[in-house]
Amino acid sequence: MSDSAAWSEAESAVYRDLSRYAVPQRARQVAMVTALVRAAVAAGADGALLDLCCGEGLLSEALLAALPEARVLAYDGSDSMLATTRRRAGDTPRLETRLIDLATAGWRRFERPLGAVVSSLAIHHLDAAGKRALFADLHAALAPGGVFVLADVVQPATAAGQAIAAELWDEEVRRQALELDGDLSGFEAFERAEWNHFRHGGLDPIDKPSSLVEQLDWLRAAGFADVELHWMTAGQMIASGWRR
Ligand SMILES: C[S@@+](CC[C@H](N)C(=O)[O-])C[C@H]1O[C@@H](n2cnc3c(N)ncnc32)[C@H](O)[C@@H]1O
Repeated sequence: MSDSAAWSEAESAVYRDLSRYAVPQRARQVAMVTALVRAAVAAGADGALLDLCCGEGLLSEALLAALPEARVLAYDGSDSMLATTRRRAGDTPRLETRLIDLATAGWRRFERPLGAVVSSLAIHHLDAAGKRALFADLHAALAPGGVFVLADVVQPATAAGQAIAAELWDEEVRRQALELDGDLSGFEAFERAEWNHFRHGGLDPIDKPSSLVEQLDWLRAAGFADVELHWMTAGQMIASGWRR
């Protein structure tokens, strides 16, 4: 990722500092994503599991722990994130990490069909056409019975929806800061970084979130069946679609 409008190692470091406050209901999100992948594996989807833009590796770690036979492919565009993922997973041979650029197509070919693809808080770095093309490529990469779990930021459709998302996100971050540290310093750091783009406006050029309805429509257009929304708050959602 050499382009200046691209995620940088500085952003990786800030994300690792703030994500425990800023990502809403993280443990619940990880549990939901894991449950969906477990359902696909239980139903016979037996290929490797791809954690796309794995970041610090929380999902990879949870999948390796929940599914002792599974092989996890953890892909990301940041060397320091991949190193954190390897450390977190304990360097198991069941984990394979790879440096990729999400926007390119070269990494989208796999030796065998995948059992599941999960991705959290990353696909919004692609524009609408990029998301549509990625969804089609991921559908093609999955084995029958495989699931794609998409956790990501959603662009509210209206100013009123944006104000609600802003309020909910601040509330979540305040609650998590108090729970983790007993004070609001985590929330204050989130505020200083102006991470609540629903409140502060001015999206970073690397962030191109799409609306909920668009993303669900594009999943269906890519061929995914039984597309559904599992969870949403603070302008973030978890949805899934299945390859039948
Ligand atoms: C907000 S973090 C989310 C990380 C993790 N999935 C999570 O939920 O905590 C976004 C991740 O996407 C990666 N990323 C951003 N743009 C990328 C690109 N063009 N290609 C590959 N990875 C990218 C970053 O390195 C970072 O790890």
